[in-house]
Amino acid sequence: MLLKTNACVALLYTFAALHCTNGHDNNNKRSRILWYNAKNTHTGLGLSNGTLQELSRLASDLTQFRALLTPLMVTRVVGTQGHSNVRKHLVDTMEGLNWDVEQLAFDARTPVGHKTFTNVVATLDPSATRRLVIACHYDSKIDTRGDFIGATDSAVPCAMMLHLAAALHSQLSTHSLKVSHTLHSQLSTHSLKVSHTLHSQLNTHSLKVSHTLHSQLNTHSLKCVKRRILKKSLNGKEGREKEGNGGNSRKCNKKNRKKFWKSLLATWSDESVREPSARYYRRKGNCPGNSPVPSEPLANLNLSQVTRPQQNPKCLGRAKCCQVNQSKYKFTYIPDVQSDLTLQFIFFDGEEAFRRWSNTDSLYGSRNLAARLHNQPYPPNNEDNTHELHRMDLFVLLDLLGTRDVSFYSFFPNTQQWYARMLSFERRLGELQLLNSRPNMFIDEALHKTGIQDDHIPFLKRDVPILHLIPVPFPSVWHKLTDNERALHYPTIDNLNRILFAFTADYLNIVP
Ligand SMILES: *[C@@H]1O[C@H](CO)[C@@H](O)[C@H](O)[C@H]1NC(C)=O
Ligand SMILES: *[C@@H]1O[C@H](CO)[C@@H](O)[C@H](O)[C@H]1NC(C)=O
Ligand SMILES: *[C@@H]1O[C@H](CO)[C@@H](O)[C@H](O)[C@H]1NC(C)=O
Repeated sequence: MLLKTNACVALLYTFAALHCTNGHDNNNKRSRILWYNAKNTHTGLGLSNGTLQELSRLASDLTQFRALLTPLMVTRVVGTQGHSNVRKHLVDTMEGLNWDVEQLAFDARTPVGHKTFTNVVATLDPSATRRLVIACHYDSKIDTRGDFIGATDSAVPCAMMLHLAAALHSQLSTHSLKVSHTLHSQLSTHSLKVSHTLHSQLNTHSLKVSHTLHSQLNTHSLKCVKRRILKKSLNGKEGREKEGNGGNSRKCNKKNRKKFWKSLLATWSDESVREPSARYYRRKGNCPGNSPVPSEPLANLNLSQVTRPQQNPKCLGRAKCCQVNQSKYKFTYIPDVQSDLTLQFIFFDGEEAFRRWSNTDSLYGSRNLAARLHNQPYPPNNEDNTHELHRMDLFVLLDLLGTRDVSFYSFFPNTQQWYARMLSFERRLGELQLLNSRPNMFIDEALHKTGIQDDHIPFLKRDVPILHLIPVPFPSVWHKLTDNERALHYPTIDNLNRILFAFTADYLNIVP
């Protein structure tokens, strides 16, 4: 692990103690890797009414949308001229927007002979560790009865992605800059927050820490804790830190801790909090209540939640959960915070079967890409068995979109929160009268065993979190020659664009 000090020290941490319910080795190892865990604590930025309005305005340019869609509305069966023209359109559009575009070609045997497939993977910032992935497939189904256009399957979903990249181009291009700005202020106060959290966990657990106390915490032996963290982060190297790290060269000793507590207790006026805290402090090692150590998302540390940690029902009654064992804390750096999270588009090839859908005749592109990424360690040569698929925070698959008959459901429990976020954006946009009038598409219900086969399957099997936006039931034109321009309902497509824009901006923390 790379460790270095610089002016903008990013001290980051995970609380391994949280993993009390899940003790096998791999998990423990991974729990120490911040980027690996980041998706579990990631939350959207939250969008104001004004931001939703602005995003809607950008999304609603249907002239641009149609211009991007038209070249896709042709038959594009693998190996045909139409297919390579469409691929060129995708590649040219994404390259024109300065994304990094890879064309990953491979051969596979099909019931109609060997074919060459090409997945197109476009990444806004390829150096970013984590990706919000949005995917569609660009091949169209062979149909011997006539020209199958596949307007919903999946010309419109792919066009929605191109439109998102184009309409949010300037917002997305300054994204890494904004991330760095946003994170900068958080990181510069971060070690303080870590210390704060650490202190309340180590010493007081469920104490109420008021905002006024914050300054007390700030000026007393927190600096000691800060120093301890720094020391740990310096790979266990003992010794003095450089002058300038807060300018505090005091030793972090027992005396200072006592002084801190004296001042702390003097500050608290609330007896009910003060006394138990003092008792607890004196008998270190005790476990007041069953409060597990809270895991705080980096960007969203909320003091009132830290001080009243949510009880994890899984941890109730298990002493292990609240044992404070400092050797379990691990501190590490993110070497390049600026490029933490980005947007990646995958345009899959060979989704459709050539003869009849089966495990071997379908999903050619997604099966190939999922296996390829699974076999590619990330970072290279790491000892934690992490690989490229772990970089995917969330895999959003768009399919069969564009008709009026649309009902979505939440298919996977582990991404229920993100489904709910999509749903809430539809509701909020509706309340703000920013949607074309039609019934809600996002149904507030879960369907967990649909058995829908689509490009997400090879990723789902490898534990990538999936959000699948596909109507249930499928549109009535599904796999019919009528799945063409006439099947499309632009007011619905416009609504979908607006919701997708909001979701993406929220996830990536973009404010237009
Ligand atoms: C912090 O958490 C408290 C309690 O959960 C909540 O009432 C408050 O709105 C939160 N503050 C912010 C800024 O999110
Ligand atoms: C603290 O945790 C470390 C690592 O998990 C373990 O080796 C050690 O025995 C623990 N100490 C106590 C006092 O539980
Ligand atoms: C945002 O819009 C909703 C719906 O019109 C409204 O109820 C809410 O008060 C607005 N929020 C703000 C902060 O203006």
